[in-house]
Amino acid sequence: MHLVIISGAARPRARSNTAKIIAAFQKGYEEGGNTTEVWYLSDQSQWAGATQAFERSDNILIALPLYVENIPGILLEFLSGLRPKTVPGTRLAFLLQGGFPEASQSRCCEAYLETLPALLGCEYAGTLIKGDLFGLSLTDEKSRAKLLAPFTEMGRYYAKTGYFDKSVVDKFAAPEYMPRGEIRMYNLIFRHISRLFMGRIAKKLGCRGRLDDRPYASCVR
Ligand SMILES: Cc1cc2nc3c(=O)[nH]c(=O)nc-3n(C[C@H](O)[C@H](O)[C@H](O)COP(=O)(O)O)c2cc1C
Repeated sequence: MHLVIISGAARPRARSNTAKIIAAFQKGYEEGGNTTEVWYLSDQSQWAGATQAFERSDNILIALPLYVENIPGILLEFLSGLRPKTVPGTRLAFLLQGGFPEASQSRCCEAYLETLPALLGCEYAGTLIKGDLFGLSLTDEKSRAKLLAPFTEMGRYYAKTGYFDKSVVDKFAAPEYMPRGEIRMYNLIFRHISRLFMGRIAKKLGCRGRLDDRPYASCVR
């Protein structure tokens, strides 16, 4: 079975967590002879090809990062340019990944994604959710492989079922909320380590100011 994958990530492919997750998913999906093709919306020159792939395929997966609790703007723009299908039978699934660890972060976006296939003349084939992936591109190869292995497993699962079953997805997405004890521990100890770690990442990404800077604070009464 052939699967068209469209990445709705705004970051270019080389730096995108979504791209790495797609590659891991493809690995599992293609075992046993299935095929895939991937279109990256971060590259404007691929939009026409992605539109054609959407029109001609009946098996589509849109992979996206969570942006401010919903879908990235470029994906919204792409979707609004698509013509809804008039012939039934296209399955449309989603792979939604975010930075914060709690699955509850993604529920608002999931509710939106559930409404999309009907608007596009497709059938909803489920949404795979996973958080805690902010650092995926920043970790060493060994830790990255560990984080990506479950997506290869889910690629195998999707090849077999053609659907992300809600109970399987919820288990995969856990935790829904962080346990209270863990939050208390975080506030006591890990917050400081995390701040140090985030400062280093920010520096690596070119940030020169303070992370808690409030340049417009004087304008707010
Ligand atoms: C503008 C912006 C908004 C974000 N909003 C959220 C959010 O609301 N919840 C969350 O869990 N992660 C959020 N993230 C984190 C990303 O979803 C996460 O780092 C993801 O792995 C990035 O994937 P990408 O590298 O393919 O863009 C946000 C990141 C950015 C840049």
